[in-house]
Amino acid sequence: MEVIVQRDYAEMSKVAAQIVAELLNTKPNAVLGMATGSTPLGLYQELVRLHNKEQLDFSRVTTFNLDEYVGLPMSHPQSYHYFMHEHFFQHVNIPPHNINIPSGTTSNYSAFCEWYERRIGETGGIDLQILGIGTDGHIAFNEPTSSLSSRTRLKTLSKQTIDDNARFFERREDVPVYAITMGVGTILNARKLVLVASGKSKAKAIAQAVEGPVTSMVTASALQLHRDAIVIVDEEAASGLTMREYYDFIYAAKPAAPRA
Ligand code: F6R
Repeated sequence: MEVIVQRDYAEMSKVAAQIVAELLNTKPNAVLGMATGSTPLGLYQELVRLHNKEQLDFSRVTTFNLDEYVGLPMSHPQSYHYFMHEHFFQHVNIPPHNINIPSGTTSNYSAFCEWYERRIGETGGIDLQILGIGTDGHIAFNEPTSSLSSRTRLKTLSKQTIDDNARFFERREDVPVYAITMGVGTILNARKLVLVASGKSKAKAIAQAVEGPVTSMVTASALQLHRDAIVIVDEEAASGLTMREYYDFIYAAKPAAPRA
């Protein structure tokens, strides 16, 4: 796992966007895995800027979102469909038929989940998956005790996640209790993982995910099993890491390091 510590949220977002842009420049028809939440907003803004100012082209890109709340129609301002269109899709040139987001309103969840997995496979698999991390260490909505080989499925949100996400809703009771989410196994199948985290509230989860044991109690720790996982954090989110100097040393020496 590569750990990159940046000064602040803006720098963290730029470094993450640069990794996505490099992929698109070498593979214009890449398959991107998308995340929602507050953290990737800066990354999406930077990608939109690169699209507008530096002609970063998304016309052959396919996307798969990690998750969606169950029960929220696409038009609900807190649905992840709405979020993605608002903050990213309407600002770049991804063909609408290349955009895939789990349905929160399907009449048959297990059939939908199987279809979603199949559809990812049919496109050749996800080249780069963007991830955030929950304060309970989740990736997507894989809450503590989720199987590390889980696939896309219906999941009950933890109390901590409901509390964390209540900030987006008028009342805590309005936060959906269920979500449809890619599994940890689905995520680990992506060829590259880029996890972004910012702020003090993420410091403990980041320390556990990066330096703790691999455990289903912190599903982000499964990134340790991946051959190409990059964790990009700001100073505050990095504050619980004990190997910080080593990560900085590797990052600073990278341009001169022997090529693999
Ligand atoms: C959302 C998702 C979640 C978030 C996580 C952090 O698609 O997959 O795992 O990444 O809950 O959310 P924020 O960034 O709002 O702190």
